[in-house]
Amino acid sequence: MMTERFVIYNPVKLHFGKQVVDKIGKAAATYGKKALLVYGKGSVKRNGAYDDTVESLRQAGVQIIEYPGIKPNPIVEDVDKAAKLGREEHVDMVVAVGGGSVLDSAKYVAITIPASHSCWDFATGKTKPAEAIPVLGVLTLAATGSEMNPLGVVQHDQQKKKIGYGHPLMFPKHSFLDPAYTTSVPANYTAYGITDLIAHALEGWFGEGDATLTDRFILSIINEALEYGPRLMADLTNYELRAKIMYAATMALNGLTSQGKKSGDWGVHGIGHAMSVLWDIPHGASLSIAFPAWMTLQQNRIPERIEELGYATFNTNTVDDTIKAMKTFFQEIGSPVSLSEAGVHAGEKEQQELLEVMRINKVDGNVHKLNDEDYQLLISEMI
Ligand code: NZQ
Ligand code: ZN
Repeated sequence: MMTERFVIYNPVKLHFGKQVVDKIGKAAATYGKKALLVYGKGSVKRNGAYDDTVESLRQAGVQIIEYPGIKPNPIVEDVDKAAKLGREEHVDMVVAVGGGSVLDSAKYVAITIPASHSCWDFATGKTKPAEAIPVLGVLTLAATGSEMNPLGVVQHDQQKKKIGYGHPLMFPKHSFLDPAYTTSVPANYTAYGITDLIAHALEGWFGEGDATLTDRFILSIINEALEYGPRLMADLTNYELRAKIMYAATMALNGLTSQGKKSGDWGVHGIGHAMSVLWDIPHGASLSIAFPAWMTLQQNRIPERIEELGYATFNTNTVDDTIKAMKTFFQEIGSPVSLSEAGVHAGEKEQQELLEVMRINKVDGNVHKLNDEDYQLLISEMI
């Protein structure tokens, strides 16, 4: 029985395909004359995304103030500095050019500019945003789904916390997705992106609520990634394959995989974030380490659900084979399945640190609750 009440709301205007970014200037001009352009550490200047965006904005008469240097696993300090600059310059909008870290930062900047405090107050739930300036995104890496959702994840290094937060004011107004920009993403981040999109679908799969149609969307997204992910890894500059993965990544976290469900689980993301805070492990890489470990922990608690997944995706019949097949897939595309594969030697001290950070972040699933004993089991599976 489908029992959940639900609302579908997604106001993002998503432009997909070759040279769609040519339209960003016209779209931006409807919001004002001055944009804060946020980007990362330079990849966008090498793949054309920066030049195309700037050109289109200039042609439309939109003035640009720049905030470069956003790091992967973005930090509170950058968001607050960018918001200060945007506030002083009286910008009318934020334009993000880059991957999920840049987009997430831009969304936070957009709610922080009208406020007089740190963006961290939003992340921690101390206060809610009252208003936001518009965000326009140019995505250059297929992974997070940030381009079509109202979520943002920022990290506070001193507090050792990484928090995902969402508010309807954080939906981008427009997102421009030209798969051509993603052909320059190196093999490792391409693999982490594939892992991330699969993980988003899986968080929905292990959520709560009977919505069989949504489950079929989820399985289709996973199967798309299982089929085209390895082909893309063997042919990184193939536009068609880039396009397939980019579309799949957007659909994996834009609401489609949670419709009709009470919630997704998101425990694995919590575990992944703890690893990123501690060792700056790329987000997708943390998930290929955490998901098989989490499924091993859950193997006797929800065997039918894991079996059903395996049957519909990896062509497996048992829980054990499903977990093995998932690990093999991640390893084959080049996403690590243990901390040591990610370059972290997790001795006694490191394991203790991870346990501590998981406690600080109160890592837990919405549906499948995790206790301290579970943390220790998970860690022993991940080293
Ligand atoms: O800094 P630059 O030079 O731009 O380089 C980036 C960065 O080093 C590079 N890159 C991006 N596009 C490229 C490229 N290199 C070559 N060619 C291109 N076209 O890739 C590196 C990683 O970028 P990043 O933005 O960090 O990756 P991703 O898109 O995976 O974003 C990860 C962040 O998003 C959060 C994660 O926690 C993490 O902080 N998430 C956001 C979510 C959301 N908003 O819905 C959900 C996710 O679960 C996730 O938690
Ligand atoms: Zn993710």
